[in-house]
Amino acid sequence: MAAKKAFEQATVGGIEVKNRMVRSATFEGTAKDKKVSDRILDMHRELAEGEVGLIITGYFCVSKTDNPAKGTVVITDDAAIPGMEKLAQTIHEHGTKIVAQLNHAGVQLFAPARGPVYGPSDVVDSISGIKPVPFTEDQIHDLVTEFGEAADRTQKAGFDGVQIHAAHGYLLSQFVSPVCNKRTDAYGGNPLKNSRIILEILHEIKKRCGKNYPVWIKLNCSDFHPAGQGLNPDDFLIIAKELARNGIDAIEVSGGTLSGKYLPSRSKKHAAYHLEHAKQLATEVDASVILVGGLRSIDTIDQILSETDIAAISMSRPLIREPGLVKRWMEGDDRDAECIACNGCFNPNGTKCFFTLGEEEKAVQKEIMKFMSSLGGH
Ligand SMILES: Cc1cc2nc3c(=O)[nH]c(=O)nc-3n(C[C@H](O)[C@H](O)[C@H](O)COP(=O)(O)O)c2cc1C
Ligand code: SF4
Repeated sequence: MAAKKAFEQATVGGIEVKNRMVRSATFEGTAKDKKVSDRILDMHRELAEGEVGLIITGYFCVSKTDNPAKGTVVITDDAAIPGMEKLAQTIHEHGTKIVAQLNHAGVQLFAPARGPVYGPSDVVDSISGIKPVPFTEDQIHDLVTEFGEAADRTQKAGFDGVQIHAAHGYLLSQFVSPVCNKRTDAYGGNPLKNSRIILEILHEIKKRCGKNYPVWIKLNCSDFHPAGQGLNPDDFLIIAKELARNGIDAIEVSGGTLSGKYLPSRSKKHAAYHLEHAKQLATEVDASVILVGGLRSIDTIDQILSETDIAAISMSRPLIREPGLVKRWMEGDDRDAECIACNGCFNPNGTKCFFTLGEEEKAVQKEIMKFMSSLGGH
């Protein structure tokens, strides 16, 4: 049975796509000299050959105040543009669209910091143990400019749009968390003040790139804080609606942090786990709403797209395991995705499905998987 809604052409977040199947941002960890490498090109080419409608890149580092881990693509100067250009061209050759995810990691580091680690306030991070240095207001203005400059480079490189990463406990997610943001100035105190930095980034990008350049956001519907104190669904709605009023083109609804009850990448027993929040949001905003998390069945995906106002779905792990998954489904093989949501692809040597590793590498990865499952969502 053809799953028509999922595979129809559409406009999602201001971008014309050949289908509603998006690859959610997936950190590659394989940049060479902080630039797009052949491995990154190959990974994305395979996805485009596999008929993914639009790819959101793994997060790119946009700020000199960040401490990017090894293998991160850093786009803080124009030297990044030629590699990005090659990536956009490679993807476009297959009729697939590409959006760059713009991020500042804040305290959520996967390698020792080389410089000061910044945050909204000096609240110790429960996972890394880092006590961040609060940004001054002047530094916040500089950071807003850096996001704008990064978007400018992305547009020059031929990308179809950008996505601001404000989910999963990274810097902007920390700003919208009442646990991490204790500021009493213009950038903290209630949901609208906590999200002011994001609004300023949105306006800065639109000012530089033009109001028609698509700006998307990935936002938590809840941090799933163990004591219920992080970003909650009510604040999420306030922030998402304010962003929509201010011209955000698409909102990808995610949830969880490394210290939350649930990780953003949950175990297999959880399916379509942000559906209710995405469904509600989609009835309240004009911006396109994209649902991520635990989507493995084409029948479920098609049902969601047919019965709700959600514009597109996005997947990460299913497409790590099977880059050709969308094509397989389009060709009528509608078995569920083979990914078992074990999180063995969080690999410090570069993102790869656990099942493609040699025995020695598997042993190392098993330790990382043990750590991940000690965190949440299992
Ligand atoms: C290896 C790996 C790297 C990821 N990197 C990013 C990232 O750079 N930015 C982001 O927003 N989410 C990232 N995610 C989260 C995914 O985009 C997605 O939100 C999450 O895995 C749930 O979707 P899934 O069930 O389809 O995997 C990553 C996930 C994995 C497994
Ligand atoms: S390592 Fe596990 S979670 Fe990651 S892609 Fe492979 S099967 Fe899926």
